[in-house]
Amino acid sequence: MGKDVIIACDFSSKEETLAFLDRFPGKKPYVKIGMELFYAEGPSIVKEIKARGHKIFLDLKLHDIPNTVKKSMHVLSRLDVDMVNLHAAGTRAMMEGALEGVTRPDGTRPLVIAVTQLTSTSEERMREELLINAPIDQTVMHYAANAAKAGLDGVVCSPMEAGKVHETCGAGFLTVTPGIRFADGEKGDQVRVTTPAQAKEIGSDYIVVGRPITAAADPVAAYERCVAEFVG
Ligand code: C5P
Repeated sequence: MGKDVIIACDFSSKEETLAFLDRFPGKKPYVKIGMELFYAEGPSIVKEIKARGHKIFLDLKLHDIPNTVKKSMHVLSRLDVDMVNLHAAGTRAMMEGALEGVTRPDGTRPLVIAVTQLTSTSEERMREELLINAPIDQTVMHYAANAAKAGLDGVVCSPMEAGKVHETCGAGFLTVTPGIRFADGEKGDQVRVTTPAQAKEIGSDYIVVGRPITAAADPVAAYERCVAEFVG
């Protein structure tokens, strides 16, 4: 399982997304499709991008009762994507149901990755609104350990947490890390960021990069810079 750069295609229409991908002639970057694009265009956008030869991380963050997640994952398995995700807060029973549901008849399945605590949730909000009194980093590692026990392949986390996740859950447990910025780039609304090179050094397995590539004057050059720094 090699390191790779995943482009977050946070667009709201098929036209915009395909026009963006058309700028990469001869290259097939790994693409993340999130809720915005999926809800706007439905499963056909996934099939179309897959048919163009891209690997796909379908970032829909499922969270429901185990039976509903299992059946929904079964439907998603037919889209033949490479990576899907869910909320670890749904419990181990839900994560195990997801794995069962997403496994195709031939025994293959996409990588299944857990979201621990969203980076938008502060320790204060977690304590006051969710009644979770443990420190946030301990909560994140505990959720990651639950995901590993359920048989999942890894977690979405900050690159800064990637080393600790590997220590807790094993070197083979994948860390998929957004919050990537070039050393000379804009941070935008991301707070705790690392460069692709730093993410590599800390041990991220996949970096998820949105605006530093999608909003760049030359997206292909920005993508290649990510690959050069991260994959080497
Ligand atoms: O544009 P930018 O590089 O900030 O995009 C990062 C992508 O990763 C977005 O699609 C964002 O929703 C996603 N993400 C994140 N932080 C998380 C989980 C997902 O930035 N904790």
